Amino acid sequence: MKKLVATGILVILCTAAFLQTGKPANYEAGKKVYTQACMPCHMADGKGISGMNPPLIKTEWVLGDKKRLINIVLKGIEEPLTIDGEEYVIPMPAQPQLTNQQIADVLTYIRNSFGNKASVVTVAEVKKVRG
Ligand code: HEC
Repeated sequence: MKKLVATGILVILCTAAFLQTGKPANYEAGKKVYTQACMPCHMADGKGISGMNPPLIKTEWVLGDKKRLINIVLKGIEEPLTIDGEEYVIPMPAQPQLTNQQIADVLTYIRNSFGNKASVVTVAEVKKVRG
């Protein structure tokens, strides 16, 4: 019974948080992961550093196929990318040490920040891609 009440309160709090910010429940957790694992290169505003680290604003990688996006964090990227007419040749290091939860949170965060709007990434989706 106590558990049920606690779950009920949690659901209400999460709903309230969502209604208040219009952001997914794990948005704040994702922001924390972003600050540590992504911000040094992609910057707080997601604009990156021109010619070095690409922006995360409305790119096909951020908004597109979730499996590909999850693999970017798990495996990094080696091949050069052209984004907004600029070429990025420095590889991105993989971060497989992040937990499935942290990856789900951070990808949900970037898909709903910097002017982006896209569906959440779930722990189950990350787990499936990691295999
Ligand atoms: C050490 C710097 C560095 C860190 C840390 C880093 N990235 Fe990247 N990221 C890059 C670079 C450089 C590229 C371009 C790679 C290429 O061109 O091969 C890139 C590319 C990307 C792309 C695809 C291109 C785009 O702009 O949409 C995504 C998405 C991405 N990173 C997300 C993340 C996320 C999420 C994190 C944190 C979990 C992260 N990155 C951490 C440097 C970094």
